[in-house]
Amino acid sequence: MSKIHLVSGACGFVGRNLVKRLLKTTEDFIFIVDDLSAGTPEPENWYNQPLEKEIQDLKIYGPNERLIFRKGDFRDFLREIMQDPNFLNTRYGFNFPKFSDVYHFAAIVGGRAKIDGDPMMVALDLSIDAEFFYWVCNYKPSRVMFPSSSAAYPVDLQTDMDAIALSETDINFNGSLGQPDMTYGWSKLTGEYLAKIAAQYYGISVACVRPFSGYGEDQDLTYPIPAIAARAAAKEDPFEVWGSGKQGRDFVHIDDCIDAILMAMDNISDGSAINIGSGKLTSFLEIIEVFTKIAGYTPQIKPLLDKPVGVHSRYANMDHVAEKFGWKPKISIEEGMKRVYEKALERNKK
Ligand SMILES: NC(=O)c1ccc[n+]([C@@H]2O[C@H](COP(=O)([O-])OP(=O)(O)OC[C@H]3O[C@@H](n4cnc5c(N)ncnc54)[C@H](O)[C@@H]3O)[C@@H](O)[C@H]2O)c1
Repeated sequence: MSKIHLVSGACGFVGRNLVKRLLKTTEDFIFIVDDLSAGTPEPENWYNQPLEKEIQDLKIYGPNERLIFRKGDFRDFLREIMQDPNFLNTRYGFNFPKFSDVYHFAAIVGGRAKIDGDPMMVALDLSIDAEFFYWVCNYKPSRVMFPSSSAAYPVDLQTDMDAIALSETDINFNGSLGQPDMTYGWSKLTGEYLAKIAAQYYGISVACVRPFSGYGEDQDLTYPIPAIAARAAAKEDPFEVWGSGKQGRDFVHIDDCIDAILMAMDNISDGSAINIGSGKLTSFLEIIEVFTKIAGYTPQIKPLLDKPVGVHSRYANMDHVAEKFGWKPKISIEEGMKRVYEKALERNKK
């Protein structure tokens, strides 16, 4: 019998790229749940899968009807399937086995403006993740992916003066945890702790990842990379940058993120976490330079010092991932940014 996987938050940036990959590389069924709160469109707009039919509140896509979408709060879905683990079959008349792999991307994210601007809203992630792991420990799917974040790392390791390349061991649940980045970082750290509890106390196979700054062509314009690309493509001058622009991040292309997520799912089961980054620190001024060079002009830089910028320098040490799993990102900053720029030109034409 075919397998069926569950992906929450599948209309978001990471979720939809993961689903695209699963559609391409497997023949399995994929059940996706998203409340579309992040303003992303419905699946037919980005999976290239035609709508085949609707059953009650489900939309079923693709010639083989492999993609099944339920619009709604993931917590409502979890409560229903908690009451009846066979819920998909009893309610909708399917004949599916239990979910095999579960990828949990439903979260309130929203970038710096949201993390600093509405921290209590972001704290709702604690509620989504607590209900998620409670369900996981009862349902016992074959494998679970929990995306943590580089925001879980102690902020005092990311200052102007003391920034270091962040290693997995800089978070130690048996020792020092430090102060993560706002409610977003606390929710990710708590999620990682729940993942460990699920593995150790309930025998669940769980992998966690800590992506640094994922970017890609189809990312929302509220995120810095596509927004900067769009402004460079429109030849903005003077060019606005949040803060001084000297603050830096570790930018990693979404295709590399998906590779690493799948690699982690295959190799980690004890709830531990690995970094997903390039290992390089790139400042926002450098990003502006890359894009304006592609656009063929040199603008004046206009710092916006009242905008939220977060920590000064956040980047990954990728040694552990390279040594233990032999994994390295494949897409360079230049190649990745070129792809984003080409998409920005298309977007600007519309
Ligand atoms: N994008 C990155 O670079 C990055 C970096 C670190 C960690 N992560 C983590 O990866 C996960 C996905 O991030 P993303 O960038 O795709 O975010 P996103 O905002 O693009 O996607 C999140 C999705 O979850 C949905 N959602 C929110 N609350 C929901 C709920 N209660 N029920 C159902 N759906 C709900 C939203 O509608 C959205 O489609 C998050 O946990 C995030 O913290 C992402």
